[in-house]
Formats: sequence, structure tokens, C-alpha cells
Amino acid sequence: MKTKYAIVFICIVALVIIEKESNILSRFSDKLIQRQIPQQNPQTSPDFSNTTENGSLMMLKRLLSKLIGTNRNYSEEQEEEELDDLGRYSFSSGRKHILLLATTRTGSSFVGEFFNQHGENMFYLFEPLWHVERMLTMASEANNGTVLAGIYRDVLQALFLCDFSPLEKFISPLPQDHVTPALFRRESSHSLCEESVCSPVIKDVFERYHCKTRRCGPLNLTLASESCLSKQHHAIKTVRVRQLDTLQPLLEDPRLDVRVIQLVRDPRAILASRMVAFSSKYQTWKAWAQDGQVPEDDEEVKRLRGNCDQIRMSAEVGLSQPPWLRRRYMLVRYEDIARYPMQKAEEMYRFTGIPFSPQAREWILRNTQTTQGASGIYSTQKNSSEQAEKWRFSIPFTLAQVVQRVCGPTMELFGYRFVDDEKTLMNRSISLLEDKLFH
Ligand SMILES: *[C@@H]1O[C@H](CO)[C@@H](O)[C@H](O)[C@H]1NC(C)=O
Ligand SMILES: *[C@@H]1O[C@H](CO)[C@@H](O)[C@H](O)[C@H]1NC(C)=O
Ligand SMILES: *[C@@H]1O[C@H](CO)[C@@H](O)[C@H](O)[C@H]1NC(C)=O
Ligand SMILES: *[C@@H]1O[C@H](CO)[C@@H](O)[C@H](O)[C@H]1NC(C)=O
Ligand SMILES: *[C@@H]1O[C@H](CO)[C@@H](O)[C@H](O)[C@H]1NC(C)=O
Ligand SMILES: *[C@@H]1O[C@H](CO)[C@@H](O)[C@H](O)[C@H]1NC(C)=O
Repeated sequence: MKTKYAIVFICIVALVIIEKESNILSRFSDKLIQRQIPQQNPQTSPDFSNTTENGSLMMLKRLLSKLIGTNRNYSEEQEEEELDDLGRYSFSSGRKHILLLATTRTGSSFVGEFFNQHGENMFYLFEPLWHVERMLTMASEANNGTVLAGIYRDVLQALFLCDFSPLEKFISPLPQDHVTPALFRRESSHSLCEESVCSPVIKDVFERYHCKTRRCGPLNLTLASESCLSKQHHAIKTVRVRQLDTLQPLLEDPRLDVRVIQLVRDPRAILASRMVAFSSKYQTWKAWAQDGQVPEDDEEVKRLRGNCDQIRMSAEVGLSQPPWLRRRYMLVRYEDIARYPMQKAEEMYRFTGIPFSPQAREWILRNTQTTQGASGIYSTQKNSSEQAEKWRFSIPFTLAQVVQRVCGPTMELFGYRFVDDEKTLMNRSISLLEDKLFH
């Protein structure tokens, strides 16, 4: 394989030297690379999972683009057009990979369901990076955000290619023969609880069932991978990716056709919701609200500022439409989904290029029109428009003010209105949401 690359590489270097000024070249070289792929993979499926090979492929691509770099700036744009319109430069064979990026308490479980409920053609994973975060935090290696972000990206990349092995290393206890009873929230993924992925329950007495809809034993990751490969589209929800730009190599992987949906929410609402959901962690905030005094140099407040800044910076990267993200990024506000769930779901599906299935539509109808059935902090069964505004009555005004000071630029970018007094905060007929389109 390596010699093949070398030959291709030498040919291309020669061509570069000969035709240095030609814009056609970059496109040509891409085609060459792509023609190599089926030969290397005896299966017709583009989903070969050898990341080493992929690594060298990417490296070659990168080298080439550097070589051609000087006259690439407008040809690159043309290439993007073709990539999007014809799909010619992607090997995903029409397969779409949706990455739902969010932070906690933004309704991401709910929005994740839009895709989880799509039906038989969707392979959906709920927070697989939970394992990675937990293990690295336990090993206290997580202090280096750069390293962590790289690991997150690599695990996501493998999962989109239906390769669970990088994730396996982070599952605790370590899976035996690729079988684990401990996959986080397995039951939140339809595809992991389907008949074909459901292994028999052996010890019935103490075994807790691993799926709600079926009595399934521990998860066989080999079966999960097979199921994944058989599905047309893949979606992953995560609240753990901090910076969108750390994902660039994922979006540039020619085997994938990634669409990123960033889900945001009013930071005041997020704080209010966290104070309820993670009550013990937010004792300090409650104490501050009582005192009416918030020390803004406190670590807690700094963390809030950091979170807001990261969300904003990711959105700024996405909205600035760099070539690697062009037409692959969509910003969605939770509040808009709560007001117009069906319309927003339709928009999201249109953006991903996946047909909006009757099953997904049906699920959204069922879950946005009822006031009853709300239970548990991760519940997705809520009257969404009512739910979205509840925080205005639960957040102490002092804390709303702190968020406005600390997260001001983020709120402005997303169109969340500031309030100057408690009356406005608690007056439902005053909207805190600017109508805003993000394109
Ligand atoms: C990936 O390919 C390399 C050679 O290119 C080989 O040594 C390695 O075993 C392969 N890994 C897997 C997981 O197939
Ligand atoms: C490339 O980009 C530079 C800077 O943006 C611009 O001045 C130049 O005209 C571009 N070249 C082409 C061929 O479009
Ligand atoms: C994190 O790790 C990278 C690579 O090992 C290193 O370049 C960087 O300086 C580290 N950052 C911190 C804050 O330790
Ligand atoms: C998991 O599934 C694979 C594929 O069907 C099978 O070969 C393997 O034996 C299963 N593993 C266990 C431990 O049952
Ligand atoms: C959901 O809540 C909103 C706001 O309180 C209310 O207007 C609407 O009637 C509720 N919908 C249903 C179906 O209960
Ligand atoms: C709420 O705001 C509306 C519109 O500004 C105003 O007419 C109304 O009096 C306010 N209600 C209360 C209770 O302040």
C-alpha cells in the first residue's frame, strides 16, 4: 500500500512541478487519491476501518494541498461546490453523518430524538464520549484540553465509521470479547436495542435489562458495529466537544459526509436548569442568590464565562463558513425548536439531506403537545413551549444579571434579550428572544 502511495505521490509532485499554475491540478489530485481507495479495499463498501491507512491518506491529501496551496484559494471553493452538489468527492455513498453538538441543559436529548426516531435507516448514539470523559477525568489526564479534544475527535471519527474499538478502551469495566453491560445510556439508542443487536439474557435473576423495549443481555459491540454498517445514516449527540474547530479533520475525512448541528440555548435558562438538575453542585450559586452578592472572580463564575465563550467561538467558526464547514454547519436555538418543533425539525432534516420520516414526525407530534408525562431530569416528554420559558420564574434575578454580564457577547450573538428588572424577567408577554436567522 505504501509503495502505491509513494508512486502516486511522486507522479503528483512531478505534475505539480510541471503544471504549477494550473488550477485543475488540485481537483485532479483528489480524483487520483479517490481512485486508489476501492483498490485498497477489496469490499465495495467505503467503510474500511483501518485508521492508520486513513491517517496516511489524510496526510497525503494534506501534503498535496500544501503543495498546491498557493493557487488553491478559489479552486478550493469550486471544489466545495462540486463536493456538495454532486457528492463526487466523498466516499460516503450517500451516507450522512450527523453530529449534534450541544451543552448540558440545552434540550439535546430531546433534539437527539428527532434523529433517533427516524426509523430503520438511522444509527444513533447518545453521548458515547461520556466514557472517554469519565475515564480520563478519573486518570486526571484531562487537564490538557488539546489532547482531550483530539481523543474525542478520533473516537467520533471511528464511531461514524462503525468502529467501536477506540471507544472500547474507555469503557469501564473493559469489555470482554467486545461485550459490555456498561455502555452509557444504551437504551437511549433505538438501534442498540433492535432485535439484531439484542443478545440473550443469560442470568435472569440479577441481570438488569439493558433495553426498555426488549429483554436484552449485555451489548455485543460486534453486533452493534454490524448494525451500524447496515444503516444508511449515522447520528451522534454529544455535549462534550468544546470547540468546533478541533473537529476539522473529521469534516475533511473523505469517507464521511458530516453535518454539524450546534444547539444553543439562553445561558440564563441553562444556569436555571442546571441549578435544578444538578442541585448539589450549584449550592454556591444558591448561596450567592440569597446574599445578593456574586464574587465575579470566583472559579464558578469564570467557568460560566469560559463555557459561554467556547459556545460563542464555536458558533462564530461555524457562521463564518470556512471551506471545511461550508454548508455543513447549522446553528439552532432551543427556543425556536420549542416554539416550532415541527418546522425546525423539517429544517434540520433538510439541512442534513435525509428525508424527514413519518416516524420522526409522529414522535415530535406526540412529544410536543402534552403537558403530562414529564418525569425525570432527562425527560423529553414535555410541553416544549411551556418548558422553554419556565426558567424565567425559577432563576433569581441577581443571577440572571450575572449571566448577562458574563455571557453578554454570547447572548447578543444568539439574539437573547437582556432584562433590566425582575418584572420584565417574569413577564411572559415580553419575549426575550429576538427573531433571528443564522445563515
Ligand atoms: C492497518 O494497516 C496497516 C498497514 O497499512 C496494518 O499493519 C495494520 O495491521 C492494519 N490495522 C488494522 C486494524 O487492520
Ligand atoms: C487568493 O486570495 C487572495 C487573498 O484573499 C486574493 O488577493 C487573491 O486574488 C486570490 N487569488 C485568486 C486566484 O482568487
Ligand atoms: C497539551 O499537550 C500538547 C501536546 O502534547 C502540548 O503541546 C500543550 O502545550 C499542552 N498544553 C497544556 C496546557 O499543557
Ligand atoms: C458477538 O457477536 C459476534 C457476531 O455475531 C459473534 O461472532 C460473537 O461470538 C459474539 N460475542 C459473544 C461473546 O457472544
Ligand atoms: C403548552 O404550553 C403552552 C404555554 O403554556 C400552552 O399555551 C399550550 O396550550 C400547551 N399545549 C398543550 C397541548 O397543552
Ligand atoms: C407585561 O408586559 C406587558 C407588555 O409590555 C404589559 O402590558 C403588562 O402590563 C406587563 N404585565 C405586568 C404584570 O407587568
